[in-house]
Amino acid sequence: MRATPLDDMHVEAAVRYCLAQLRGTADRLGGRGVRPPGSGHDLVSMMVHGFAGTLDRAGWVVLDGSTVRGFAGATFVDLTPDDWRYTFMPPRSMSIAATACHLDTTEAVLALHDAVRPAAADRGMPRLLIASAPDAETVRAAWRGAGLRPDVVMAVRDMSNWPGAGSSPAGIVVRTAAPSDVDSLTDLALEEHRYHATHTKSGTSPDQPRETSRRLAEQAVSAPPETSYQLVAEDAASGAVVGSLLGMIHILGDDQVQRFLLPPRYGYIGLTSVTAAHRGGGVGRALVDAAMNWFANHQVDSVFLHYVVDNPLSARFWTRLGFAARIHVDGVWL
Ligand SMILES: CC(C)(COP(=O)(O)OP(=O)(O)OC[C@H]1O[C@@H](n2cnc3c(N)ncnc32)[C@H](O)[C@@H]1OP(=O)(O)O)[C@@H](O)C(=O)NCCC(=O)NCCS
Repeated sequence: MRATPLDDMHVEAAVRYCLAQLRGTADRLGGRGVRPPGSGHDLVSMMVHGFAGTLDRAGWVVLDGSTVRGFAGATFVDLTPDDWRYTFMPPRSMSIAATACHLDTTEAVLALHDAVRPAAADRGMPRLLIASAPDAETVRAAWRGAGLRPDVVMAVRDMSNWPGAGSSPAGIVVRTAAPSDVDSLTDLALEEHRYHATHTKSGTSPDQPRETSRRLAEQAVSAPPETSYQLVAEDAASGAVVGSLLGMIHILGDDQVQRFLLPPRYGYIGLTSVTAAHRGGGVGRALVDAAMNWFANHQVDSVFLHYVVDNPLSARFWTRLGFAARIHVDGVWL
């Protein structure tokens, strides 16, 4: 098998291959409202064609003779410090999303690996990130055999068996954030980003501009309350804000290829941060409890979030709260 750049001759076969793979995954995820309406052909066609002939993207097909046995579409990510993704991604990477990576054998993975790794290096990208769907164990094992390591997971938890709101730890009040909390939210965000930069191998920059985090905090406190809920945990005695969590409701359009992997409407927990002196005392759980209560009141069935796999605090925290990996992102430094 060999991987070659996506070209006109193979594009339709690549669409058919990806469509079959995505449908298979959606069926296996079944019962969670996952799968776009209709055949999904147009969505997949748009996705595959989107990787042909643009400067910041590249596509490959894996060929067995002349038969397409794999596809990958990569985006070259080059972030400036004012980009919101700079707060949680390495500044420069080549990234392949789970919707755009379809392979089903070890051989196909190795053929693709031989093509994508030099392509990333040629573009001066220090980090290669490749996502895979939950049922792609063989493929994931092959990537790991080729040197990639778990980087981030998108994890999910059903709302149905959430144990219900417990009480906040003594002296802690969890409440909706107000515009006057923007400075505290910015401090907590910077603390979280720097924690990732220094305690994980994610490659997030330790040099995080305050302005970017402040802008995001301002947006979070003024976002529409129907789909966004910025929480803070306050130390009642001192009035200091010691923790924060952003809850959101995400809605995927029928024209989004992610509909093969995610439900059309789901809860999402964004930036979660408890200041170092208050960790391990139940503040994080109290924030999640309040968010889950809000999700329940908004008829959300499942809640997703991302965490960095080698973050020694968050991986255990989210696992303890019942979140399980749905989409895996593996990475390698080049
Ligand atoms: C992750 C974080 C938000 C957790 O908040 P916290 O207030 O320390 O967590 P809690 O004390 O509420 O812990 C809740 C549960 O998780 C468990 N838990 C938390 N941290 C844990 C750890 N490192 N190891 C094992 N279990 C842990 C607790 O034992 C507790 O279980 P219990 O309620 O059944 O006893 C906090 O550590 C933090 O801000 N870390 C730095 C930034 C970060 O990583 N943010 C998350 C990004 S995804």
